Amino acid sequence: MASVYIAGAGGRVGRAAAAQAGAVGLDVAASPDAAAAWLIALPRTVVEADLAHWTTARDVAVVDLSGAFKARGVGSYALLADDRRVWSGEPVGAGRLFANPGCIAGAVIAGLAHSGLRAHVTGGVHVTAVTAGSAAKASTRGTVRTGHLWWTHPHVAEIEQALGLACASFVPVVDYGLTTGIVATISGTASAEALALPADAGDAIDVAQVQHTAAVRWHRRVRAHPTLGVTFTLVVALDNLVFPAANAVAVAAAWLTARGRR
Ligand SMILES: NC(=O)c1ccc[n+]([C@@H]2O[C@H](COP(=O)([O-])OP(=O)(O)OC[C@H]3O[C@@H](n4cnc5c(N)ncnc54)[C@H](OP(=O)(O)O)[C@@H]3O)[C@@H](O)[C@H]2O)c1
Repeated sequence: MASVYIAGAGGRVGRAAAAQAGAVGLDVAASPDAAAAWLIALPRTVVEADLAHWTTARDVAVVDLSGAFKARGVGSYALLADDRRVWSGEPVGAGRLFANPGCIAGAVIAGLAHSGLRAHVTGGVHVTAVTAGSAAKASTRGTVRTGHLWWTHPHVAEIEQALGLACASFVPVVDYGLTTGIVATISGTASAEALALPADAGDAIDVAQVQHTAAVRWHRRVRAHPTLGVTFTLVVALDNLVFPAANAVAVAAAWLTARGRR
């Protein structure tokens, strides 16, 4: 059986990745030397402190969930476009180093793509994301509070680079009463062509429907406003731990298959 090594396997994302690996028939190796693919679920600063260790390894795929590869411009942006291609359209097997999507950015980027709105947005997107306490640093506590980073949040750069759209606003809100899950609201203005889309479409949104799953649920509304023009609001829900973990495992599995290693 093909094996993956998970750096940070004992953490929240690491445990979700191990469960996802098991679900697709990948063994989780105790040692990096015994694995053909590595998943990094460590704090970003820990990865950045020894980036060469993770990037110059031997013939293994490395999927970074920490954000370090994105921050340093390493590898392919590995939000899966389908089961064989990363976001750029490049086949998974063509690369070796992969920057996994963040949870909030993943919700915004995948939501705009899945809902059909991506091609119609005309200005910057406004993003407000309510995340479970498990999306915040394990050391932080609270009730329902705003995150500390707004425009400087690393997910802003991720959204802007992946979509080619400016983030007009970005407000992360942490709900410590919620164990897992994200509900992100994205809004802005759109071209007149967006009016051809059904004005009210998509899924009912309740975070309970995505908890412990890799699913992305979205609900889209579009309207012609008398002074603002065409405006849209999109609400997206996913599990902040399982969605990125499942994506990373799917990238590793696709790479192993493409390279004939499983
Ligand atoms: N939480 C989310 O929603 C989410 C979503 C997507 C991506 N991420 C990213 O995924 C990474 C892990 O997040 P997490 O929420 O799983 O964090 P976590 O629960 O705090 O887990 C961090 C893991 O890293 C290990 N670790 C910490 N410092 C280390 C060091 N100096 N050397 C070796 N191992 C060390 C921890 O081991 P010990 O417990 O033994 O210290 C633990 O296994 C972060 O970069 C985060 O930004 C998080």
